[in-house]
Amino acid sequence: MKSVVYSHTGDPSVLHLVDRDVTEPGPGEVRVRVAVSGVNPTDWKSRLGSGDGGAPPFPQVTPNQDGAGVVDAVGEGVVDVAVGDRVWVYLAGHQRPTGTAQQYTNLPAARVVRLPAGTSFDIGASLGVPAITAHRALTVSEDGPKRLHPGALAGKVVLVAGGAGAVGHAAIQLARWAGATVIATISGPAKAALATAAGAHHVINYRNEDSAAAITKLTPDGVDLVVEVAIATNSRLNIDVVKPRASIAIYANDGGGELTLNVRQNMIKNLRYQFVLLYTVGEAALMAAVEDITLALADGALPVGENAGLPLHRFPLAKTADAHQAVQDGALGKVLIDVP
Ligand SMILES: NC(=O)c1ccc[n+]([C@@H]2O[C@H](COP(=O)([O-])OP(=O)(O)OC[C@H]3O[C@@H](n4cnc5c(N)ncnc54)[C@H](OP(=O)(O)O)[C@@H]3O)[C@@H](O)[C@H]2O)c1
Repeated sequence: MKSVVYSHTGDPSVLHLVDRDVTEPGPGEVRVRVAVSGVNPTDWKSRLGSGDGGAPPFPQVTPNQDGAGVVDAVGEGVVDVAVGDRVWVYLAGHQRPTGTAQQYTNLPAARVVRLPAGTSFDIGASLGVPAITAHRALTVSEDGPKRLHPGALAGKVVLVAGGAGAVGHAAIQLARWAGATVIATISGPAKAALATAAGAHHVINYRNEDSAAAITKLTPDGVDLVVEVAIATNSRLNIDVVKPRASIAIYANDGGGELTLNVRQNMIKNLRYQFVLLYTVGEAALMAAVEDITLALADGALPVGENAGLPLHRFPLAKTADAHQAVQDGALGKVLIDVP
């Protein structure tokens, strides 16, 4: 099979297309014939490593956690999926060397989820990292739901920072599906259009508007839950616009790696900060996300593409390095790799 691998961390030039043997799935494993591989920032960050060309965790690593395709073989004891099922996969390369940038990938059955009828591989390959992260962020508040379904967030106001990002897009879609009023911050008109297309009721340009005043005008009682990509820069805004006992779910350090919090301001509002990292979130949260995402998919609530607020950028498998570079350069939308 064709497989993209790297043996040293570094820039995208460490990625090479090679021929490898297809291997049999072990007990509890599933082999998926990958059709589309999804690229996320975590994939290039893992590939880059510390930037010193050091060794990756395995002698050869195939990148990319997310993907979609067809079950091709199942190992002993696998009952939830069968050969021929159309599936999406997540955390394919977590603590294993075999991600989705190859024609066949073996992974634990729990990481392989049937796609509802009519759901495209493009949607499937766009789900894993963004949608599970968004689900976690939307289900960690004290007064909010632990699971998502239509009506679960009715009456709640969700603020999504960076509504045109991949996670932001999934957060808008899931929050909207669950009945929330959704406010998204963005940095310009193109991103405003995308966040609106994803389903945001209101968009605020955080670069040239007084965001706190604009959000407070929209929701005088305050925001219930913030899905935060850049806490170091948005911390003050969040404190200003949230209501008492609000939660702020932090899934990235895009605004900087250090956070200073004013104790009194946070104490007065009884605020809760929940950090989110997919790799350590635990099986219960992953399973809850997968089940709720499957319901949302069946409702047609998670479309992708420009009209749905997530433009797709496609690359062939042989150009995986370019796909990684595109994500690293901040591509607007979703970068997908077509696997032949
Ligand atoms: N913790 C986890 O498990 C987890 C899971 C998924 C992703 N992540 C991380 O989350 C980050 C985003 O991932 P992604 O795939 O969504 O990337 P993305 O598609 O590039 O989106 C990032 C978005 O954040 C916006 N942004 C940056 N600074 C902002 C600010 N101060 N206020 C509001 N928006 C801001 C960017 O737009 P503008 O700069 O134009 O505003 C951009 O739209 C990455 O660092 C990724 O590694 C973490």
